[in-house]
Amino acid sequence: MNRTKKKNFLYIDLSKPMTYGDQFKLMFIIMFISCVLFTLIYLFSLIGRNGKADTPSSAEVSSAEASYSVPNEEQPSVSSEVSQVSEMNTEFFDDIETLHLKYDEIYKGDLILVNKNYKCPSDGENVVSLKDLKTDSYVITDYSVSLDKDIIVYLNQMLDDFEELYGENDVMVACGYRSYSNQEEIFDNEVEEVGVEEAEKWVARPGYSEHQTGLVLDFTLDNDSEQGSIKYDGTDIYEWINKNSYKYGFILRYPVGKEEITGYSPEPWHFRYVDFPAAFYIMQNEITLEEYIDAVRKHDINSPLLIDGGGENKWYVYYVPANEDSETEVPVPKNGNYKISGDNVQGFIITADVDIKG
Ligand code: DAL
Ligand code: ZN
Repeated sequence: MNRTKKKNFLYIDLSKPMTYGDQFKLMFIIMFISCVLFTLIYLFSLIGRNGKADTPSSAEVSSAEASYSVPNEEQPSVSSEVSQVSEMNTEFFDDIETLHLKYDEIYKGDLILVNKNYKCPSDGENVVSLKDLKTDSYVITDYSVSLDKDIIVYLNQMLDDFEELYGENDVMVACGYRSYSNQEEIFDNEVEEVGVEEAEKWVARPGYSEHQTGLVLDFTLDNDSEQGSIKYDGTDIYEWINKNSYKYGFILRYPVGKEEITGYSPEPWHFRYVDFPAAFYIMQNEITLEEYIDAVRKHDINSPLLIDGGGENKWYVYYVPANEDSETEVPVPKNGNYKISGDNVQGFIITADVDIKG
């Protein structure tokens, strides 16, 4: 059977001069291919944008009745150059700029980690005596008791509130900042008394004590019957202090059950200032400073850790590893409040207010 081949609607016979119909078909084919190309390009651009993190970490914590105000502390020194980063994903922040930080800045800030592995990078540069700065709601062993000058206001607030609640002003700051040589004396005495193995459970080697930062204090009680030994154990009415210290930015640094991580036996009298957002997260999640820093290291500016302290107390926290050989570019919110702290190990922790839009 002789079958005539049916011509395709779009068939153009190029061996003959083009008719008006052929020209129309050609235009139709070109427009169709253009539409397909534009659609593909648009779809690929959408996939590229969604590939970036679009939700904050689920590591949110329950809300607190915290009363926190952003302290007016100095930011780390930065080089004069501050550049805009226009290509940065700004899903979490309205606008971003970049600071250039020197490597040495990792040794400064409220969140520096000092433990058996990381020695204290300072020795009393920022400390002052409590003598003229303390309130009357507590006592000090003597005028040499000193702390980082920026944290005394939070200690005062905490013990003022305690006195108002319980009518007691017998909490004593037994020790704040300790110099390297002071710690050496304490460590050597302890070793002489109980041997090196036992001593290391309680006392840091010189250079490795958090007390050398000035961000730490030990409480005792003024009514101690046995002077010289720590009698503060955070029980009875003093339990309020141990449960609420986070509201003032302090954590219990050596909690029960965390000896393997901290390297020390529990010390219910030893408080470390880390500022409210970190203290809140650490207390609510029952973790240590070591674990907090490990958690933050997993978050960059495109997937920050959300700390939800209730109401307007919300922060995004993220980590920027430091370059040893050159300045580190640290992206920060251009118009919002933030604090930068080194971790004393390898980078920077940025704690930024979540911009609550009305
Ligand atoms: N008691 C603590 C661990 C210190 O000596 O710093
Ligand atoms: Zn201590």
